[in-house]
Amino acid sequence: MATTADDADAPATLPATAPVAGVRGVYRRLARAIGDAMPKGLYARSLLIIITPVVLLQSLVAFVFMERNWAEVTARLSAATVGDIAAIVDIMETYPQDEKFDRIVALANNRFRLSIAVLPLEPLPPAGPKPFFSPLDRALSEAITRQVGKPFWIDTVGRSNLIEIRIQLEKNILRIFAPRSQTYASNSLIFVSWMVATSVILLTIAIVFLRNQIRPILRLTAAVDNFGKGRAVANFEPRGAREVRQATTAFHEMRRRVERQIEQRTAMLAGVSHDLRTVLTRLRLQLALIEASADVEDMQHDIDAMNRMLEGYLAFARGDSGEEAVPTAIDALLRTLAQEARVAGAVVEVSFEGDPTVRVRPQAFKRCIANLVGNASRHGDHVVVVGQHTDGNLTVIVDDDGPGVPFEEQGAVFKPFYRLDNARNLDETGTGLGLPIARDIARSHGGDITLGDSPLGGLRVTVTVPA
Ligand SMILES: Nc1ncnc2c1ncn2[C@@H]1O[C@H](COP(=O)(O)OP(=O)(O)OP(=O)(O)O)[C@@H](O)[C@H]1O
Ligand SMILES: [Mg+2]
Repeated sequence: MATTADDADAPATLPATAPVAGVRGVYRRLARAIGDAMPKGLYARSLLIIITPVVLLQSLVAFVFMERNWAEVTARLSAATVGDIAAIVDIMETYPQDEKFDRIVALANNRFRLSIAVLPLEPLPPAGPKPFFSPLDRALSEAITRQVGKPFWIDTVGRSNLIEIRIQLEKNILRIFAPRSQTYASNSLIFVSWMVATSVILLTIAIVFLRNQIRPILRLTAAVDNFGKGRAVANFEPRGAREVRQATTAFHEMRRRVERQIEQRTAMLAGVSHDLRTVLTRLRLQLALIEASADVEDMQHDIDAMNRMLEGYLAFARGDSGEEAVPTAIDALLRTLAQEARVAGAVVEVSFEGDPTVRVRPQAFKRCIANLVGNASRHGDHVVVVGQHTDGNLTVIVDDDGPGVPFEEQGAVFKPFYRLDNARNLDETGTGLGLPIARDIARSHGGDITLGDSPLGGLRVTVTVPA
Protein backbone atom coordinates (compact mmCIF):
# COMPACT_ATOMS: atom_id res chain seq x y z
CA MET A 1 0.00 0.00 0.00
CA ALA A 2 2.72 2.38 1.03
CA THR A 3 4.48 1.93 -2.30
CA THR A 4 1.35 2.69 -4.25
CA ALA A 5 0.75 5.84 -2.22
CA ASP A 6 4.34 6.94 -2.85
CA ASP A 7 4.01 6.20 -6.54
CA ALA A 8 0.81 8.18 -6.70
CA ASP A 9 2.40 11.09 -4.87
CA ALA A 10 5.49 11.23 -7.00
CA PRO A 11 4.01 12.74 -10.19
CA ALA A 12 1.88 15.16 -8.15
CA THR A 13 4.86 16.63 -6.27
CA LEU A 14 7.23 16.72 -9.20
CA PRO A 15 5.77 19.68 -11.12
CA ALA A 16 5.35 21.64 -7.87
CA THR A 17 9.02 21.34 -6.96
CA ALA A 18 10.38 21.84 -10.47
CA PRO A 19 9.83 25.63 -10.66
CA VAL A 20 11.20 26.01 -7.13
CA ALA A 21 14.36 24.18 -8.20
CA GLY A 22 14.49 26.40 -11.29
CA VAL A 23 14.19 29.56 -9.22
CA ARG A 24 16.80 28.28 -6.82
CA GLY A 25 19.10 27.47 -9.75
CA VAL A 26 18.69 30.97 -11.17
CA TYR A 27 19.25 32.47 -7.73
CA ARG A 28 22.37 30.38 -7.23
CA ARG A 29 23.73 31.35 -10.64
CA LEU A 30 23.00 35.00 -9.97
CA ALA A 31 24.66 34.82 -6.55
CA ARG A 32 27.71 33.18 -8.12
CA ALA A 33 27.89 35.80 -10.89
CA ILE A 34 27.71 38.60 -8.31
CA GLY A 35 30.29 36.82 -6.18
CA ASP A 36 32.62 36.51 -9.18
CA ALA A 37 32.21 40.16 -10.08
CA MET A 38 32.88 41.34 -6.53
CA PRO A 39 36.41 42.24 -5.55
CA LYS A 40 38.10 39.43 -3.63
CA GLY A 41 40.19 41.37 -1.12
CA LEU A 42 38.88 42.25 2.34
CA TYR A 43 39.90 45.89 1.93
CA ALA A 44 38.08 46.36 -1.37
CA ARG A 45 35.03 44.52 -0.06
CA SER A 46 34.80 46.59 3.11
CA LEU A 47 35.13 49.77 1.09
CA LEU A 48 32.35 48.60 -1.17
CA ILE A 49 30.18 47.87 1.87
CA ILE A 50 30.66 51.45 3.02
CA ILE A 51 30.51 53.19 -0.34
CA THR A 52 27.48 51.42 -1.79
CA PRO A 53 24.94 52.55 0.86
CA VAL A 54 26.35 56.08 0.88
CA VAL A 55 26.13 56.43 -2.87
CA LEU A 56 22.68 54.81 -2.96
CA LEU A 57 21.36 57.03 -0.20
CA GLN A 58 22.81 60.18 -1.70
CA SER A 59 21.45 59.35 -5.14
CA LEU A 60 18.03 58.65 -3.70
CA VAL A 61 17.99 61.84 -1.67
CA ALA A 62 19.26 63.85 -4.62
CA PHE A 63 16.65 62.33 -6.91
CA VAL A 64 13.76 62.97 -4.51
CA PHE A 65 15.03 66.48 -3.88
CA MET A 66 15.31 67.28 -7.59
CA GLU A 67 11.99 65.70 -8.39
CA ARG A 68 10.03 67.32 -5.59
CA ASN A 69 11.64 70.27 -3.98
CA TRP A 70 13.70 71.73 -6.75
CA ALA A 71 11.07 71.33 -9.45
CA GLU A 72 8.37 72.65 -7.13
CA VAL A 73 10.27 75.72 -6.01
CA THR A 74 11.31 76.48 -9.54
CA ALA A 75 7.70 76.08 -10.72
CA ARG A 76 6.49 78.52 -8.06
CA LEU A 77 9.16 81.08 -8.77
CA SER A 78 8.51 80.82 -12.52
CA ALA A 79 4.77 81.10 -11.96
CA ALA A 80 5.27 84.27 -9.92
CA THR A 81 7.47 85.89 -12.59
CA VAL A 82 5.13 84.83 -15.37
CA GLY A 83 2.27 86.27 -13.29
CA ASP A 84 4.04 89.62 -13.41
CA ILE A 85 4.57 89.28 -17.15
CA ALA A 86 0.92 88.38 -17.63
CA ALA A 87 -0.05 91.51 -15.71
CA ILE A 88 2.19 93.61 -17.99
CA VAL A 89 0.65 92.01 -21.09
CA ASP A 90 -2.83 92.68 -19.70
CA ILE A 91 -2.02 96.31 -18.96
CA MET A 92 -0.57 96.81 -22.43
CA GLU A 93 -3.64 95.34 -24.08
CA THR A 94 -6.27 96.92 -21.84
CA TYR A 95 -4.79 100.42 -21.45
CA PRO A 96 -3.36 101.24 -24.87
CA GLN A 97 -3.09 105.01 -24.01
CA ASP A 98 0.61 104.53 -23.16
CA GLU A 99 1.63 104.75 -26.82
CA LYS A 100 5.36 104.44 -26.43
CA PHE A 101 5.07 102.07 -23.51
CA ASP A 102 7.46 104.28 -21.47
CA ARG A 103 5.49 104.04 -18.31
CA ILE A 104 4.92 100.34 -18.50
CA VAL A 105 8.66 99.79 -19.07
CA ALA A 106 9.45 101.93 -16.03
CA LEU A 107 6.78 100.18 -14.00
CA ALA A 108 8.14 96.73 -14.90
CA ASN A 109 11.61 97.86 -14.05
CA ASN A 110 10.74 99.41 -10.70
CA ARG A 111 8.06 97.12 -9.42
CA PHE A 112 8.74 93.71 -10.99
CA ARG A 113 12.50 93.93 -11.50
CA LEU A 114 11.93 92.95 -15.12
CA SER A 115 13.75 94.70 -17.92
CA ILE A 116 11.26 94.82 -20.79
CA ALA A 117 11.29 96.25 -24.26
CA VAL A 118 8.57 96.47 -26.85
CA LEU A 119 9.85 95.54 -30.30
CA PRO A 120 8.15 95.76 -33.67
CA LEU A 121 6.30 92.64 -34.77
CA GLU A 122 8.51 90.04 -36.38
CA PRO A 123 8.48 86.24 -36.38
CA LEU A 124 9.80 84.65 -33.19
CA PRO A 125 13.22 83.00 -33.50
CA PRO A 126 13.20 79.20 -33.79
CA ALA A 127 13.26 77.38 -30.47
CA GLY A 128 16.80 76.87 -29.26
CA PRO A 129 18.22 73.59 -28.02
CA LYS A 130 16.78 72.68 -24.66
CA PRO A 131 19.12 71.80 -21.86
CA PHE A 132 18.86 68.11 -21.13
CA PHE A 133 17.73 68.37 -17.55
CA SER A 134 16.10 71.70 -16.83
CA PRO A 135 13.06 72.10 -14.64
CA LEU A 136 13.29 75.82 -15.37
CA ASP A 137 12.47 75.46 -19.07
CA ARG A 138 9.61 73.17 -18.31
CA ALA A 139 8.20 75.29 -15.51
CA LEU A 140 8.45 78.54 -17.49
CA SER A 141 6.86 77.11 -20.62
CA GLU A 142 3.99 75.69 -18.60
CA ALA A 143 3.43 78.91 -16.72
CA ILE A 144 3.47 81.08 -19.88
CA THR A 145 1.10 78.75 -21.71
CA ARG A 146 -1.24 78.74 -18.75
CA GLN A 147 -1.16 82.40 -17.71
CA VAL A 148 -0.42 84.33 -20.92
CA GLY A 149 -1.64 81.95 -23.60
CA LYS A 150 0.25 83.58 -26.47
CA PRO A 151 3.03 82.42 -28.78
CA PHE A 152 6.36 82.75 -26.95
CA TRP A 153 10.05 81.98 -27.15
CA ILE A 154 12.38 81.49 -24.22
CA ASP A 155 16.11 81.30 -23.82
CA THR A 156 17.31 80.12 -20.42
CA VAL A 157 20.80 79.24 -21.60
CA GLY A 158 22.24 82.20 -23.51
CA ARG A 159 23.05 84.73 -20.80
CA SER A 160 24.08 83.06 -17.64
CA ASN A 161 22.32 85.20 -15.02
CA LEU A 162 19.45 86.51 -17.16
CA ILE A 163 16.76 84.62 -18.95
CA GLU A 164 15.12 86.00 -22.03
CA ILE A 165 11.43 85.65 -22.83
CA ARG A 166 9.74 86.92 -25.96
CA ILE A 167 5.99 87.02 -26.26
CA GLN A 168 4.20 87.72 -29.47
CA LEU A 169 1.44 90.27 -28.96
CA GLU A 170 -1.03 91.45 -31.57
CA LYS A 171 1.08 94.36 -32.84
CA ASN A 172 4.36 93.97 -31.06
CA ILE A 173 6.86 91.62 -29.60
CA LEU A 174 7.37 91.95 -25.87
CA ARG A 175 10.93 91.10 -24.88
CA ILE A 176 11.64 90.49 -21.21
CA PHE A 177 14.91 89.96 -19.42
CA ALA A 178 14.37 88.49 -15.96
CA PRO A 179 17.07 87.72 -13.45
CA ARG A 180 17.61 83.98 -13.37
CA SER A 181 17.51 83.94 -9.59
CA GLN A 182 13.97 85.31 -9.74
CA THR A 183 12.67 82.24 -11.55
CA TYR A 184 14.92 79.46 -10.47
CA ALA A 185 15.73 77.67 -7.22
CA SER A 186 19.46 78.02 -7.71
CA ASN A 187 20.41 76.88 -4.22
CA SER A 188 19.91 73.25 -5.30
CA LEU A 189 23.33 73.28 -6.94
CA ILE A 190 24.76 74.38 -3.64
CA PHE A 191 22.87 71.53 -2.01
CA VAL A 192 24.31 68.99 -4.44
CA SER A 193 27.82 70.38 -4.03
CA TRP A 194 27.51 70.15 -0.26
CA MET A 195 26.26 66.62 -0.55
CA VAL A 196 29.12 65.53 -2.80
CA ALA A 197 31.71 67.35 -0.70
CA THR A 198 30.49 65.84 2.58
CA SER A 199 30.38 62.36 1.01
CA VAL A 200 33.95 62.73 -0.19
CA ILE A 201 35.06 63.78 3.30
CA LEU A 202 33.06 60.93 4.85
CA LEU A 203 34.53 58.36 2.49
CA THR A 204 38.05 59.66 3.04
CA ILE A 205 37.63 59.26 6.78
CA ALA A 206 36.13 55.80 6.24
CA ILE A 207 39.05 54.76 4.03
CA VAL A 208 41.62 55.95 6.56
CA PHE A 209 39.90 54.18 9.45
CA LEU A 210 39.31 51.05 7.44
CA ARG A 211 42.95 50.89 6.44
CA ASN A 212 43.96 50.90 10.07
CA GLN A 213 41.44 48.20 10.89
CA ILE A 214 42.38 45.95 8.00
CA ARG A 215 46.14 46.19 8.25
CA PRO A 216 46.32 43.94 11.36
CA ILE A 217 44.12 41.36 9.64
CA LEU A 218 46.35 41.34 6.58
CA ARG A 219 49.42 40.99 8.78
CA LEU A 220 47.84 38.11 10.68
CA THR A 221 46.92 36.44 7.39
CA ALA A 222 50.50 36.74 6.17
CA ALA A 223 51.84 35.38 9.48
CA VAL A 224 49.47 32.38 9.45
CA ASP A 225 50.34 31.72 5.82
CA ASN A 226 54.07 31.84 6.55
CA PHE A 227 53.73 29.65 9.62
CA GLY A 228 51.72 27.12 7.60
CA LYS A 229 54.53 26.99 5.07
CA GLY A 230 57.08 26.51 7.82
CA ARG A 231 58.70 29.91 7.42
CA ALA A 232 59.94 32.00 10.30
CA VAL A 233 57.31 34.29 11.83
CA ALA A 234 58.36 37.35 13.77
CA ASN A 235 56.61 38.05 17.04
CA PHE A 236 54.38 41.05 16.35
CA GLU A 237 52.11 43.06 18.63
CA PRO A 238 48.37 42.37 18.45
CA ARG A 239 46.67 45.49 17.03
CA GLY A 240 43.28 46.58 15.71
CA ALA A 241 39.81 45.61 16.86
CA ARG A 242 39.36 43.37 19.88
CA GLU A 243 38.50 40.27 17.83
CA VAL A 244 41.55 40.74 15.63
CA ARG A 245 43.75 41.15 18.71
CA GLN A 246 42.24 37.98 20.15
CA ALA A 247 42.88 36.10 16.93
CA THR A 248 46.47 37.38 16.84
CA THR A 249 47.06 36.39 20.46
CA ALA A 250 45.50 32.97 19.85
CA PHE A 251 47.72 32.50 16.82
CA HIS A 252 50.83 33.37 18.81
CA GLU A 253 49.81 30.94 21.53
CA MET A 254 49.16 28.20 19.02
CA ARG A 255 52.48 28.87 17.33
CA ARG A 256 54.34 28.72 20.63
CA ARG A 257 52.59 25.48 21.57
CA VAL A 258 53.38 23.85 18.23
CA GLU A 259 57.00 24.96 18.44
CA ARG A 260 57.27 23.75 22.03
CA GLN A 261 55.78 20.41 21.05
CA ILE A 262 58.26 19.99 18.22
CA GLU A 263 61.10 20.92 20.53
CA GLN A 264 59.92 18.44 23.14
CA ARG A 265 59.57 15.69 20.55
CA THR A 266 63.05 16.38 19.26
CA ALA A 267 64.57 16.56 22.74
CA MET A 268 62.85 13.37 23.87
CA LEU A 269 63.83 11.39 20.80
CA ALA A 270 67.36 12.72 20.94
CA GLY A 271 67.54 11.61 24.57
CA VAL A 272 66.12 8.17 23.86
CA SER A 273 68.39 7.65 20.87
CA HIS A 274 71.39 8.77 22.82
CA ASP A 275 70.64 6.46 25.74
CA LEU A 276 69.95 3.49 23.49
CA ARG A 277 73.08 4.14 21.48
CA THR A 278 75.15 4.01 24.63
CA VAL A 279 73.64 0.62 25.46
CA LEU A 280 74.16 -0.61 21.92
CA THR A 281 77.79 0.46 21.94
CA ARG A 282 78.25 -1.44 25.16
CA LEU A 283 76.56 -4.51 23.65
CA ARG A 284 78.77 -4.33 20.59
CA LEU A 285 81.86 -4.18 22.77
CA GLN A 286 80.70 -7.17 24.76
CA LEU A 287 80.02 -9.06 21.52
CA ALA A 288 83.51 -8.25 20.33
CA LEU A 289 84.88 -10.03 23.37
CA ILE A 290 82.84 -13.16 22.71
CA GLU A 291 84.30 -15.80 20.46
CA ALA A 292 83.27 -15.31 16.83
CA SER A 293 80.46 -17.48 15.56
CA ALA A 294 77.55 -17.25 13.11
CA ASP A 295 75.22 -16.27 15.95
CA VAL A 296 77.50 -13.49 17.12
CA GLU A 297 77.77 -12.17 13.57
CA ASP A 298 74.00 -12.11 13.27
CA MET A 299 73.74 -10.25 16.54
CA GLN A 300 76.34 -7.73 15.40
CA HIS A 301 74.41 -7.29 12.20
CA ASP A 302 71.24 -6.59 14.17
CA ILE A 303 73.01 -4.10 16.38
CA ASP A 304 74.26 -2.26 13.30
CA ALA A 305 70.71 -2.16 11.92
CA MET A 306 69.44 -0.78 15.22
CA ASN A 307 72.14 1.86 15.18
CA ARG A 308 71.17 2.93 11.69
CA MET A 309 67.54 3.10 12.70
CA LEU A 310 68.40 5.30 15.64
CA GLU A 311 70.40 7.61 13.40
CA GLY A 312 67.50 7.81 11.01
CA TYR A 313 65.01 8.38 13.76
CA LEU A 314 67.12 11.13 15.17
CA ALA A 315 67.30 12.84 11.78
CA PHE A 316 63.55 12.44 11.46
CA ALA A 317 62.93 13.92 14.90
CA ARG A 318 65.37 16.77 14.36
CA GLY A 319 63.54 17.50 11.15
CA ASP A 320 64.59 20.76 9.60
CA SER A 321 64.23 22.80 12.71
CA GLY A 322 66.00 26.13 12.75
CA GLU A 323 66.59 26.40 9.04
CA GLU A 324 65.40 29.60 7.35
CA ALA A 325 63.51 29.67 4.07
CA VAL A 326 65.51 31.55 1.44
CA PRO A 327 65.13 32.00 -2.32
CA THR A 328 66.74 28.89 -3.79
CA ALA A 329 67.56 27.93 -7.36
CA ILE A 330 65.59 24.69 -7.61
CA ASP A 331 66.86 23.77 -11.08
CA ALA A 332 70.47 23.78 -9.86
CA LEU A 333 69.45 21.79 -6.78
CA LEU A 334 67.78 19.11 -8.93
CA ARG A 335 70.82 18.92 -11.22
CA THR A 336 73.16 18.43 -8.24
CA LEU A 337 70.98 15.63 -6.89
CA ALA A 338 70.86 13.97 -10.31
CA GLN A 339 74.63 14.17 -10.57
CA GLU A 340 75.00 12.50 -7.17
CA ALA A 341 72.58 9.75 -8.19
CA ARG A 342 74.50 9.23 -11.45
CA VAL A 343 77.70 8.73 -9.51
CA ALA A 344 75.84 5.99 -7.65
CA GLY A 345 75.15 4.36 -11.00
CA ALA A 346 71.65 5.38 -12.15
CA VAL A 347 70.51 6.97 -15.39
CA VAL A 348 68.89 10.23 -14.35
CA GLU A 349 67.26 12.89 -16.54
CA VAL A 350 66.37 16.33 -15.18
CA SER A 351 64.31 19.18 -16.59
CA PHE A 352 62.84 22.36 -15.16
CA GLU A 353 60.09 24.70 -16.32
CA GLY A 354 59.25 28.19 -15.07
CA ASP A 355 61.02 30.51 -12.67
CA PRO A 356 63.61 28.36 -10.88
CA THR A 357 63.93 30.61 -7.83
CA VAL A 358 61.59 29.55 -5.01
CA ARG A 359 61.62 30.30 -1.28
CA VAL A 360 62.31 27.00 0.49
CA ARG A 361 64.55 25.76 3.27
CA PRO A 362 67.37 24.57 1.01
CA GLN A 363 68.87 21.80 3.19
CA ALA A 364 65.51 20.32 4.08
CA PHE A 365 64.13 20.54 0.56
CA LYS A 366 67.26 18.94 -0.80
CA ARG A 367 66.94 16.11 1.72
CA CYS A 368 63.33 15.61 0.70
CA ILE A 369 64.06 15.31 -3.03
CA ALA A 370 67.27 13.37 -2.36
CA ASN A 371 65.26 10.71 -0.49
CA LEU A 372 62.90 10.39 -3.45
CA VAL A 373 65.65 10.28 -6.08
CA GLY A 374 67.54 7.83 -3.85
CA ASN A 375 64.51 5.53 -3.66
CA ALA A 376 63.91 5.81 -7.40
CA SER A 377 67.50 5.02 -8.35
CA ARG A 378 67.60 2.20 -5.84
CA HIS A 379 64.46 0.57 -7.25
CA GLY A 380 64.76 1.47 -10.93
CA ASP A 381 67.47 1.90 -13.55
CA HIS A 382 66.04 4.91 -15.27
CA VAL A 383 64.94 7.99 -13.32
CA VAL A 384 63.26 11.14 -14.68
CA VAL A 385 63.01 14.26 -12.51
CA VAL A 386 60.74 17.07 -13.74
CA GLY A 387 60.42 20.41 -11.94
CA GLN A 388 57.67 22.92 -12.68
CA HIS A 389 56.99 26.33 -11.24
CA THR A 390 53.55 27.51 -12.41
CA ASP A 391 50.44 29.12 -10.87
CA GLY A 392 52.10 29.76 -7.51
CA ASN A 393 53.10 26.11 -7.06
CA LEU A 394 56.39 24.30 -7.28
CA THR A 395 55.95 20.69 -8.41
CA VAL A 396 58.70 18.12 -8.57
CA ILE A 397 57.86 14.78 -10.16
CA VAL A 398 60.21 11.82 -9.75
CA ASP A 399 59.53 8.85 -12.08
CA ASP A 400 61.30 5.52 -12.20
CA ASP A 401 61.00 2.22 -14.06
CA GLY A 402 61.22 0.02 -10.99
CA PRO A 403 58.57 -2.30 -9.50
CA GLY A 404 56.49 0.59 -8.10
CA VAL A 405 54.40 0.50 -4.95
CA PRO A 406 51.04 -1.33 -5.01
CA PHE A 407 48.07 1.00 -4.50
CA GLU A 408 47.14 -0.61 -1.15
CA GLU A 409 50.63 0.09 0.18
CA GLN A 410 50.83 3.71 -0.97
CA GLY A 411 49.52 5.03 2.32
CA ALA A 412 51.57 2.66 4.47
CA VAL A 413 55.00 3.47 3.01
CA PHE A 414 54.75 6.93 4.60
CA LYS A 415 54.76 5.38 8.07
CA PRO A 416 58.13 5.56 9.83
CA PHE A 417 60.13 2.32 9.55
CA TYR A 418 57.65 0.82 7.11
CA ARG A 419 59.44 -0.98 4.30
CA LEU A 420 58.23 -3.15 1.48
CA ASP A 421 61.75 -4.29 0.76
CA ASN A 422 61.79 -6.61 3.77
CA ALA A 423 59.00 -8.60 2.19
CA ARG A 424 60.43 -8.25 -1.31
CA ASN A 425 63.87 -8.98 0.02
CA LEU A 426 65.33 -6.50 -2.45
CA ASP A 427 67.47 -4.36 -0.30
CA GLU A 428 68.56 -4.33 3.28
CA THR A 429 70.14 -0.97 3.69
CA GLY A 430 67.06 1.20 4.20
CA THR A 431 65.39 2.03 7.47
CA GLY A 432 62.01 3.06 6.12
CA LEU A 433 62.34 6.70 7.12
CA GLY A 434 63.01 8.27 3.69
CA LEU A 435 59.40 8.83 2.68
CA PRO A 436 58.13 9.96 6.13
CA ILE A 437 60.97 12.50 6.31
CA ALA A 438 60.27 13.68 2.76
CA ARG A 439 56.58 14.11 3.54
CA ASP A 440 57.33 15.91 6.77
CA ILE A 441 59.49 18.39 4.87
CA ALA A 442 56.93 18.89 2.10
CA ARG A 443 54.20 19.50 4.69
CA SER A 444 56.35 21.88 6.69
CA HIS A 445 56.60 23.92 3.47
CA GLY A 446 52.78 23.95 3.27
CA GLY A 447 52.72 21.31 0.53
CA ASP A 448 52.43 17.52 0.26
CA ILE A 449 53.64 14.37 -1.47
CA THR A 450 51.52 11.96 -3.46
CA LEU A 451 52.34 8.60 -4.99
CA GLY A 452 51.08 7.19 -8.28
CA ASP A 453 51.98 5.06 -11.28
CA SER A 454 54.73 6.30 -13.53
CA PRO A 455 54.48 6.18 -17.32
CA LEU A 456 57.95 4.59 -17.09
CA GLY A 457 56.35 1.60 -15.37
CA GLY A 458 57.49 2.21 -11.82
CA LEU A 459 56.58 4.66 -9.10
CA ARG A 460 55.73 8.32 -9.65
CA VAL A 461 56.24 10.58 -6.63
CA THR A 462 54.86 14.12 -6.88
CA VAL A 463 55.96 16.84 -4.47
CA THR A 464 53.93 20.04 -4.52
CA VAL A 465 54.71 23.09 -2.42
CA PRO A 466 53.23 26.57 -2.68
CA ALA A 467 55.79 29.00 -4.04
N1 LIG B 1 60.68 4.34 -6.13
C1 LIG B 1 60.25 3.27 -5.47
N2 LIG B 1 59.91 2.14 -6.12
C2 LIG B 1 59.46 1.05 -5.44
N3 LIG B 1 59.27 1.03 -4.11
C3 LIG B 1 59.58 2.11 -3.41
C4 LIG B 1 60.08 3.29 -4.05
N4 LIG B 1 60.28 4.23 -3.10
C5 LIG B 1 59.96 3.65 -1.93
N5 LIG B 1 59.54 2.40 -2.11
C6 LIG B 1 59.08 1.50 -1.06
O1 LIG B 1 58.64 2.25 0.05
C7 LIG B 1 59.34 1.85 1.22
C8 LIG B 1 59.58 3.01 2.11
O2 LIG B 1 60.49 3.90 1.50
P1 LIG B 1 61.40 4.82 2.38
O3 LIG B 1 62.18 5.70 1.51
O4 LIG B 1 60.53 5.41 3.40
O5 LIG B 1 62.35 3.79 3.11
P2 LIG B 1 63.64 3.07 2.58
O6 LIG B 1 63.99 3.59 1.26
O7 LIG B 1 63.39 1.62 2.68
O8 LIG B 1 64.67 3.48 3.67
P3 LIG B 1 65.46 4.87 3.83
O9 LIG B 1 64.92 5.76 2.79
O10 LIG B 1 65.14 5.30 5.20
O11 LIG B 1 66.87 4.52 3.64
C9 LIG B 1 60.61 1.24 0.73
O12 LIG B 1 61.03 0.25 1.59
C10 LIG B 1 60.25 0.65 -0.62
O13 LIG B 1 59.75 -0.64 -0.45
MG1 LIG C 1 64.28 5.65 0.94
